[in-house]
Amino acid sequence: MDKLPVYCTDAPRPKPQSRIFKSLLAAVLLAVASLVWVGTTVDSQDKISSKVPINAAEIVQHCQLLDVQPGPPQDFHHRSHSDRFVPGTPPTLIKNATIWTGRESGNEVVNGDLLLDRGLVKAIGSVDDTSLLDYHNLVTIEAGGAWVTPGIVDIHSHLGVDSAPALRGAADTNSYKGLVLPWLRSLDGLNTHDEAYKLSVSGGVTTANVLPGSADAIGGQAFTIKLRPTTERSSSAMVLEPPYSLNGTHVDPSLPPRWRQMKHACGENPSRIYSGTRMDTIWAFRQGYDTARQIKQKQDEYCAKALAGQWDGLGAFPESLQWEALVDVLRGRVKIHNHCYEAVDLDGIVRLTNEFKFSIAAFHHAHETYLVPDLLKKAYGTTPAVALFATNARYKREAYRGSEFAPRILTNNGLRVVMKSDHPVLNSRFLLNEAQQAHYYGLPTNLALASVTSTPAAVLGYDHRIGSIKLGYDADIVVWDSHPLALGATPKQVYIDGVAQLKAPYVGKKPTYFQQAPKTPDFDRESEDAVKYDGLPPLSPKKAKNLVIFNNVGSLYVKHNYSVEEIFSSNEVGKLGVVVVDNGRITCSGLSPAACPLTQYDSANLQEIDLEGGSISPALVSFGSHLGLNHIDGEASTNDGNVIDPLKSQVPGILGQGSIIRAVDGLQFSTRDALLAYRSGATTGVTAPSSHGFLAGLSTAFNTGLPHKLVEGAILQDVTALHVAVGFSSPSVSTQIAALRSLLLGQGVGELASYFKDVVKGRLPLVVKVESADIIATLVGLKKEVEAQNGVAIRMTLVGANEAHLLARELGEAGVGVIVSPRPFPGSWKSRRILPGPPLSEDSAATLLLRNNVTVGIAVEEQWASRNIRFDIGWTALEADGKLSTPDAISLASVNLEQLLGIKTPNPDLVAVKQGSLLDFEGKVAGIISPLRGLVDLIL
Ligand SMILES: *[C@@H]1O[C@H](CO)[C@@H](O)[C@H](O)[C@H]1NC(C)=O
Ligand SMILES: *[C@@H]1O[C@H](CO)[C@@H](O)[C@H](O)[C@H]1NC(C)=O
Ligand SMILES: *[C@@H]1O[C@H](CO)[C@@H](O)[C@H](O)[C@H]1NC(C)=O
Ligand SMILES: *[C@@H]1O[C@H](CO)[C@@H](O)[C@H](O)[C@H]1NC(C)=O
Repeated sequence: MDKLPVYCTDAPRPKPQSRIFKSLLAAVLLAVASLVWVGTTVDSQDKISSKVPINAAEIVQHCQLLDVQPGPPQDFHHRSHSDRFVPGTPPTLIKNATIWTGRESGNEVVNGDLLLDRGLVKAIGSVDDTSLLDYHNLVTIEAGGAWVTPGIVDIHSHLGVDSAPALRGAADTNSYKGLVLPWLRSLDGLNTHDEAYKLSVSGGVTTANVLPGSADAIGGQAFTIKLRPTTERSSSAMVLEPPYSLNGTHVDPSLPPRWRQMKHACGENPSRIYSGTRMDTIWAFRQGYDTARQIKQKQDEYCAKALAGQWDGLGAFPESLQWEALVDVLRGRVKIHNHCYEAVDLDGIVRLTNEFKFSIAAFHHAHETYLVPDLLKKAYGTTPAVALFATNARYKREAYRGSEFAPRILTNNGLRVVMKSDHPVLNSRFLLNEAQQAHYYGLPTNLALASVTSTPAAVLGYDHRIGSIKLGYDADIVVWDSHPLALGATPKQVYIDGVAQLKAPYVGKKPTYFQQAPKTPDFDRESEDAVKYDGLPPLSPKKAKNLVIFNNVGSLYVKHNYSVEEIFSSNEVGKLGVVVVDNGRITCSGLSPAACPLTQYDSANLQEIDLEGGSISPALVSFGSHLGLNHIDGEASTNDGNVIDPLKSQVPGILGQGSIIRAVDGLQFSTRDALLAYRSGATTGVTAPSSHGFLAGLSTAFNTGLPHKLVEGAILQDVTALHVAVGFSSPSVSTQIAALRSLLLGQGVGELASYFKDVVKGRLPLVVKVESADIIATLVGLKKEVEAQNGVAIRMTLVGANEAHLLARELGEAGVGVIVSPRPFPGSWKSRRILPGPPLSEDSAATLLLRNNVTVGIAVEEQWASRNIRFDIGWTALEADGKLSTPDAISLASVNLEQLLGIKTPNPDLVAVKQGSLLDFEGKVAGIISPLRGLVDLIL
């Protein structure tokens, strides 16, 4: 849509609800008036006067308002300023923006200007200079065509209650005092000092619904907050539309009530916490709702009498402070956010809603909803929305059937989809990335953008002021450096209530084509299979013919020893390359079909694959998680389990003195996470034994795509490196360092001693999981101390190492490598000094360390994320703003990791990608070229 005139884009209409409210108010006044009149007459007869309570008018009013539905006041859209306006905030004109408004089902884009004043959107379209004369101290921003969206709304967050850095005094997510606690309020634990607020704002998040955790069936009331700092510095000041029930003193009867929010949870969590079962949890729900229903019935009977003037023996209004919130649920005045995953649980809750007649605003996590859309439609009242992660799945039974195609399948079935963070489970700074992934797997552009803006705003009941860019709406606005669905989209500026949030944002330059939504691949068949196979579609690859010709290859990169090299790269139409692969080896390649004439091959045994301009590049390595050690991380029976930490527990004598555990002995193949890693181009897994303590053991390297260990090529290297961790709290860090020193100085015994000898001789890398800069400094000192004694350089690699950037120069000089998390989070005190990257800092940890000659690798934190390594490195390269070439970016998750983790022969596998590259949202993996196994695997 083109330029629109100012002020006439969206004349707000009063909601029907407001009209009902108005007539209700009239009824109240009438009833009270008649009461007063009745009161005086009976008085004069001096007979039944004692039966009319002195507060009769108040009671009648209360009864009349009992079922009024929440919503904004009728004149809300005529407000001249926001109730959240911060006096002194200058008006702002954002000129020449590409504005995604959220209107017209998310299909409207306005090219023009946006005027913000007094906390509100005052104009959208073209603003002429004369109308600006009224605005003093106007700040004008030249957007230069940049994309602008409403602020991101996170429907599921624990910001402030599960604070960063985590401290014991700040764990306010769950109460463990009972299964049904509707009287609790997340606001009572809302920490105003959570480090994450400003980080989430820097990712464009302006509003978050802060939910209690999921330990209980009914965990308590949630509160929706805006994330900017307030002048009051209080928790309450952050709340958007505080419900009138919040401080019993202030109920304005002339206004409709405001929405309240409440958390419910079913399934594994309540069962686990309360040593119960699903049966116990649903019974707890029914008992709670029955209590509320009885109170509601008493209230309704009471009010029927009061409104009929039958005051005889009526007494006090039946009320319970503990149950009033749940009674309000039955009155349709509370949005229920229900953590609920599996069909069995969804079914139980749908029955519950029909038994007690209340509706669910959204099922959250809800990994099986895409398998049972019709069940959801049977819920009482409004069909629940579904709030999802994009690819975070399989971490427990409930999540095992989770699908990346759930968002598109659900919307195709007419359900509303919201992408959510469950912050800090996923750092909500990157909530937009959830929408980007949903888009990559097939959610249409309009719905993907709506899934983190207008849809959650509507589900929360705040779509009269947030989630869209409309006249009179809150001035919560994000100016982006690229199309918001492009990989790595980063805010250039974020406004909350019209207040600019980023002080001196670093804005890099994005490639021009990032100003459009990515042209995502076709996943129709995969999406159908997800449903056809009840959430568990087959994932194994299929061997191609011996001779494979890849046509229309846009770029070719290969590995040479520990480096990645470009063979050719072309984006020119008509000048795309060909790559011939014979038994898994490239035998010919060139930038024109003529380079490898087809006539020389036997067509019977030949398979041609059109890459449509895509790329062939080195396969990636997944390191950092428990990949290959379990099928379901949270299920002990599917899991190799944890090693015994010799610093904390007595190691059983049967293991012998100085035992050391090898991950290779616990490997499991064909796990869904490993197969998905393979299908996403991460063909090597490097995994250390799982440990919660100091000594983990020896890592191994394996092929992620093979069915079992005895298949040739399944194990790439039995032992790659020795892994320890330093920094957990007990026994002391200094005790952990003492243990390490003693082992490095040759004090160990048995096998442990001999592997430490390999470390000291520089034959085996020592990989240390560590976060704090102080501990890192100690490790560097220890390294020098041991080297001074032995005269050989130790190969030391740090993992996690959020604070390593503080010692970048020293680490470079000491020759210590670092494997960083692609997106650091100050989750603990020891890891709190992160280098956040753009827009908060020019450098990311990766770029700063690389500049200091540190070998840098990129880790995954959880195994499901192995499929996303390709995007993580693409994103890291984008953040580096031109300082990382494509080979550099690929190196981060391939050769650099292989070097840092002690892999002696880098895996020469290559990944063939259709349409785009491995590093973007346009490419789709088509095959794996394996010189080691002498074949090409097709990813179908
Ligand atoms: C808006 O910005 C774009 C991109 O920088 C530019 O090409 C265009 O000329 C600008 N339009 C106006 C009216 O300034
Ligand atoms: C009670 O809530 C109302 C409405 O949110 C607010 O205006 C008022 O200031 C609050 N009072 C106190 C004492 O917090
Ligand atoms: C491979 O790289 C390693 C480390 O950079 C080097 O020591 C080795 O000589 C190289 N091998 C070959 C064959 O180039
Ligand atoms: C990194 O290495 C290069 C090449 O050896 C050298 O010129 C440069 O000074 C080094 N940088 C730092 C910060 O040590």
